[in-house]
Amino acid sequence: MTHPTPPSALGRNDPCHCGSGKKYKKCHWEADQQHQPEGSPSMMPWLAPKTQAMIKTPRQIEGIRRASLLTAQILDQLEDKITQGVTTNQIDQWVTQATKEGGGIPAPLNYKGYPKSVCTSINEVICHGIPSDRQLVEGDIVNVDVTSVVDGFFGDASRMYLVGAVSPEARKLVEVTRECLDFGIMAVRPGGFIGDIGHAIQTHAEKNGYSVVRDFVGHGIGENFHEEPQVPHYGQKGTGQPLVPGMVFTIEPMINQGKWQMRVLKDNWTAVTIDGSLSAQFEHTVAVTGTGVEVLTLSPRHGR
Ligand code: MF3
Ligand code: CO
Ligand code: CO
Repeated sequence: MTHPTPPSALGRNDPCHCGSGKKYKKCHWEADQQHQPEGSPSMMPWLAPKTQAMIKTPRQIEGIRRASLLTAQILDQLEDKITQGVTTNQIDQWVTQATKEGGGIPAPLNYKGYPKSVCTSINEVICHGIPSDRQLVEGDIVNVDVTSVVDGFFGDASRMYLVGAVSPEARKLVEVTRECLDFGIMAVRPGGFIGDIGHAIQTHAEKNGYSVVRDFVGHGIGENFHEEPQVPHYGQKGTGQPLVPGMVFTIEPMINQGKWQMRVLKDNWTAVTIDGSLSAQFEHTVAVTGTGVEVLTLSPRHGR
């Protein structure tokens, strides 16, 4: 299998993508320049149809940006609220309320039968923890995963919250997991590949003695919760889906202290580590731009 040549990889002196045999600069170069920054699919006919279908218009990206801002604002608000004694049901209620006030709808509620408006994953829970009467206690680490829908567009992000004084081991896991997301984001650029992202994440996790969850991946997002492409958090550089401007997807590494394997509890949602070790996760929704990456769910409070 060969990959289609991404736009930024085609030099002015290379043969044109249209197959004319002329140099690119003497053929389609000028026409392409006018459209390149917006990533208009019809103006990049050399891209595989599968890739073209993943490219969002500027109008769609603006919609996803607005939903993503609300998601980030909700995650910011939770920082002042999440302390010992709070139940995960209370977190669910706060997220429901804040989403409504922001003019959105919580995407998880009733999604494939999911019963709540947010996922709250404590300690050995990898993801999809269902809010309940469980109170947070000092030392817990909890991931809150918020997805808002605004005017039909989705924005998906999650962060870790530390409850009171947390063990040095748990704190380290959370820090390294955040760094894994950062390295994943830094690997995003037009002309790159999906595999570059997983490679960056896996390298950093394993260097620190941790493992990368295989059973869940990041995903394209836009007018649906989960779209193409899939974004594994492990892998090899230069492999997989080519990255082109206008693609929008999540990066959401789940990193375990122990083995990477998981099992799902009888509620059919809650994924926990097979060995009971701690797990952490951070998630952002990002867009591939003409020059690199835009993090759409950036925190207005922290700028990260
Ligand atoms: N927000 C999760 C993700 O990052 C998906 C949760 S699906 C739900 O993809 F049904 F559990 F809400
Ligand atoms: Co997601
Ligand atoms: Co999410």
